[in-house]
Amino acid sequence: MDHAAALERARVLLAEAPRVLVLTGAGISAESGVPTFRGPEGLWKDFRPEDLATPEAFARDPRLVWEWYGWRRGLVAACAPNAGHLALAHWMLGRAGVTLVTQNVDALHERAARTAATARGGDPSPALPIRLHGSIARVRCTRCDHGAEGDDPVDATARETLPACPACGALLRPDVVWFGEALPLPAMQRADAAAREADACLVVGTAGAVQPAAGYAMAVVRRRRPLVVVDPGPTAFDGMAEVKLTGSAGAVLPPLLG
Ligand code: APR
Repeated sequence: MDHAAALERARVLLAEAPRVLVLTGAGISAESGVPTFRGPEGLWKDFRPEDLATPEAFARDPRLVWEWYGWRRGLVAACAPNAGHLALAHWMLGRAGVTLVTQNVDALHERAARTAATARGGDPSPALPIRLHGSIARVRCTRCDHGAEGDDPVDATARETLPACPACGALLRPDVVWFGEALPLPAMQRADAAAREADACLVVGTAGAVQPAAGYAMAVVRRRRPLVVVDPGPTAFDGMAEVKLTGSAGAVLPPLLG
């Protein structure tokens, strides 16, 4: 099937599905300038996840971990949602029944939802994602249950200058899920419910290397519902996809969802 025919097939599948589960990964943010994790320019090429994205790493050296997340916050702050984020947000605001589940912590889906809602004069909430891995634009306390939106610059020059909880004074940490940690239960329950009801699934920009995120898309396929994959490279979903659209999110999502 050539690309145009595949695109049309995917358009029909998604338009005919009353409920759609969308799963995104780092690839949807690549064209915004946010590095992915695996692959030639991926974050894990230069950093070892176990040195920076685990509770043990934070306990061992909270200053180093905050320094890395401060760098990532600065990187993301300089980025903007790309045409793929915006096409998805407009599509979600223009129809019912779409649940977006993201592995990304860059908050670019949220920014795209606000931009699209402003352009449409409406409420962004239908286009907001379920955040399986949290957000670098949020912090939470390492001792009490305090949590807050906040991506202020962090002074990581010394342990004493790291952010402290306003409620109990303990160290604050990025509100992201680290390797070896449990995902937020409410997010998993919402994603699981969406996977059980979905009539189709759209996967964009994820290699499918990490569970349980990849499992939500696979659960839709196990219910014999069609899967559309958008990715310039190979993914773990390719063999089960009804349609694979080989290309970048920014190039494929506008004609697919527009
Ligand atoms: N458009 C769409 N997809 C793209 C683009 C693009 N412009 N550029 C790259 N990709 C694809 C890659 O081909 C790859 O399949 O995005 C995918 C990125 O895969 P990963 O780097 O593995 O990122 P992701 O799947 O989101 O990782 C999942 O792993 O390290 C953890 O917590 C981290 O959330 C992350 C999780």
